[in-house]
Amino acid sequence: MAKIRTVYFCQNCGTESAKWVGKCPSCSEWNTFVEEIVKPEDKKGIPGSSGKKTPVRPKLLKDVSIENRPRIDMKDTELNRVLGGGLVPGSLTLIAGEPGIGKSTLLLQIALLLPKVATLYISGEESPEQIRMRAERVGPLHDNFVVLCETDTAAVFPLLREIEPQLVIVDSIQTLSSPFVESGSGSISQIRQCTSELMKYAKESGVPVILVGHITKEGTIAGPKVLEHMVDTVLQFEGDRNHLYRLLRAVKNRFGSTNELGIYEMSGIGLRPVQNPSEVLLSEHDENVSGVALAATIEGLRPMLIEIQALVSTAVYGTPQRSTTGFDTRRLNMLLAVLEKRAGFSLAIRDVFLNITGGIRVEDPAIDLAVIAAIYSSSRDLPVPESTAFAGEVGLSGEVRAVTRVEQRIREAEKMGLRQICISGFTKGIIQTDFSIKIVKIQKVEELISKLFL
Ligand code: TYD
Ligand code: MG
Repeated sequence: MAKIRTVYFCQNCGTESAKWVGKCPSCSEWNTFVEEIVKPEDKKGIPGSSGKKTPVRPKLLKDVSIENRPRIDMKDTELNRVLGGGLVPGSLTLIAGEPGIGKSTLLLQIALLLPKVATLYISGEESPEQIRMRAERVGPLHDNFVVLCETDTAAVFPLLREIEPQLVIVDSIQTLSSPFVESGSGSISQIRQCTSELMKYAKESGVPVILVGHITKEGTIAGPKVLEHMVDTVLQFEGDRNHLYRLLRAVKNRFGSTNELGIYEMSGIGLRPVQNPSEVLLSEHDENVSGVALAATIEGLRPMLIEIQALVSTAVYGTPQRSTTGFDTRRLNMLLAVLEKRAGFSLAIRDVFLNITGGIRVEDPAIDLAVIAAIYSSSRDLPVPESTAFAGEVGLSGEVRAVTRVEQRIREAEKMGLRQICISGFTKGIIQTDFSIKIVKIQKVEELISKLFL
């Protein structure tokens, strides 16, 4: 009988240790080491592998032939874009997201959109009845879609060889378990083992495999680093569960750019791709209200207009509140300090609330100018001039700095039919005559106020 070995794994980052330690030497987390039993691998019987081994010789790179197998068109504009133009045969893709965000819905929907691709959906989380019930809502059923509710990889692989699917979806990797590791499913060594078995299967058979991975509260994939470096592509599915919009972002992609972003709207009949993000992220107003400003931002490679809402009111308690949704509070404090120092505008005894509509989180510094305009507008109760967008970063001395890809931002504002856009006066190469939208160049925060509000 094989000797049983026990190893300690950090449940946060996957670091392995022969003995228990209190603090992980790699990720510095406390109390994350858990003992797991590992059976020595019986190489021949590894479920993902067919057991055949041909000796590999080094090759000249120019002699390596590129098998030009076409990518699979996922019939979903957003997913295709994020993947870099379709799913690559033999690739292993991880879709990570918090529970309830819509990962299962997205993958079920994809499978139903591909009647020509024989898809096997392995679910360890839902029964076939539950999947069927959801499918009724999401799309029409077809003959090429097989579900399997099994969590043991030893049972899954023989079936894969028998069914010969063209696409495998695993929902989720945390529910799978391999008989080669004795710890429970969801533990680091199980996740690592199951992923490597699936990886072997994908590479040998050329069948693309999509994995679902749940994210822990801290925002990392449970068993995070282990999974991230093993797979070819990591797509993060994010957004607020209480909001309609979901963002699909490539965090890692061996076959494309990581700058791409997909946007979906959750509806009663599944996830709907959003083609024109600016339209949905702007809220409807009949009249011009104060405290609202439009920012021309870029998410990944896509320009879009978002709405910034600010509310400035007299503080009820001694210490004023600073509260933000979708924006960094420290950055807000900095912008308030700039407003106070450079524009002689005191907010010390006032509460400031800042909100980015649509429930998305923006880190683009180019929205600073819109934030300042919204705050000023709310505190003076003067609306920002109608159909005006902003794109500029604000520095500590109150200077408005040029931002990246300003032309794309201007074009987006133009496309949305706005009248004017305020950009940094230090921007080079932007000539008014190239655009039909009016371009207002601003060098200092004071100038913004004098040009727009006085
Ligand atoms: P789900 O896809 O199961 O999330 P995950 O697999 O990431 O845990 O569920 C997403 C949520 O979306 C669920 O709470 C119900 C909701 N939903 C809709 O609003 N409309 C729909 O058509 C479907 C199928 C789900
Ligand atoms: Mg699910």
